[in-house]
Amino acid sequence: MILVTGGTGLVGSHLLYELAVRGRQVRAIKRSGSHIGLVRQLFLWYDPAHGEELFSNIEWVEGDINDIPSMQEALVGVRYVYHCAAVVSFLPDDSQLMMKVNVEGTANLVNLSLQNQVEKFCHCSSVAAVGRPERGNHVDESLVWKTSGSNSWYSISKYGSEREVWRGAEEGLASVIVNPTVIVGPGDPSRSSAQLYQSVKNGLKFYTNGVTGFVDARDVARLMVLLMEGDISGERFIINSENLPYRDLFTLFAKYAGTRPPRYRAGRFLTEMAWRLEKVRSFLTGQKPLITRETARSGNVKRYFSNEKVIKATGYTFRPVEEAAENTSLFFQKHPIYLSPDFRM
Ligand SMILES: NC(=O)c1ccc[n+]([C@@H]2O[C@H](COP(=O)([O-])OP(=O)(O)OC[C@H]3O[C@@H](n4cnc5c(N)ncnc54)[C@H](OP(=O)(O)O)[C@@H]3O)[C@@H](O)[C@H]2O)c1
Repeated sequence: MILVTGGTGLVGSHLLYELAVRGRQVRAIKRSGSHIGLVRQLFLWYDPAHGEELFSNIEWVEGDINDIPSMQEALVGVRYVYHCAAVVSFLPDDSQLMMKVNVEGTANLVNLSLQNQVEKFCHCSSVAAVGRPERGNHVDESLVWKTSGSNSWYSISKYGSEREVWRGAEEGLASVIVNPTVIVGPGDPSRSSAQLYQSVKNGLKFYTNGVTGFVDARDVARLMVLLMEGDISGERFIINSENLPYRDLFTLFAKYAGTRPPRYRAGRFLTEMAWRLEKVRSFLTGQKPLITRETARSGNVKRYFSNEKVIKATGYTFRPVEEAAENTSLFFQKHPIYLSPDFRM
């Protein structure tokens, strides 16, 4: 039996589909307020003929990674764990929640996996938990994360959660860690990287100068399974298809969504102004800011990620980012309800 956490999220839902197609026996945790409707639609999207049956083969159990008894129950009879649950946020108000869920929640799962003699553990980390390169160099797995005032709380929590997995590995838990770049795919557009498509569809006008890595959600899911089912253990892998300017991704989304791509460049000065104004607006209205200090600053950074290690280990060929953008857009064209402002999954 395989246990998947975060199965209702962007990564987890694609992973559930990948495992279901391979005929694996899968248990997925959901919380009392989780919505699994989008996961079912994804299964039908990728396989209209068999999606319903594949989805019905997933065993959903209620649990929260911060609730140890529920995780203890979920782990009964489990040999493999894929841990994709996390809070992905750049809102300063979410810092405590991220430390609680991402770090403490991962520690709980690692401890329980050790206790239950789980055979292998796959942790979905992030490039936010990898160190920064000297100017101009590519980011690879060897870079060590360093404490710095410019680290976001998300980055701190992802590094903290990765450390829990390394600790588990030292205590005997066979594990593999994936560090994806920005993941592109159909998912709940109110959260995580799935928000990017929604912004472009809603007519985003500004783009920033930054460059980063992007990868299709289907590639992340497939590589997690390939790495889990192979002999590799005690290693981490950057999962990246292409390094592109943010503007290129926005232009691809706009192309497939039939909207105008963002056309005004927001340089450092403008983005620094924007996050401060948003902070004031958020304080006065109680609404979440559309841009934060972290998103403003990372939007102007140029970072290039190496995918050499994972290609060497698996021989994998990544889908172009354009395919990921097209897939995302076509899904939402078929299911516009998920983009409706009144709809909350
Ligand atoms: N998206 C990206 O671009 C990206 C890039 C690199 C790495 N990652 C990593 O990939 C992983 C998955 O991210 P995602 O994009 O799929 O995020 P997501 O769409 O926001 O999904 C987050 C998932 O975590 C679950 N979750 C949150 N708190 C939980 C808790 N206390 N107990 C149990 N489940 C909980 C959510 O469940 P509910 O449905 O109940 O809320 C949901 O299933 C994360 O570790 C993230 O850091 C993401």
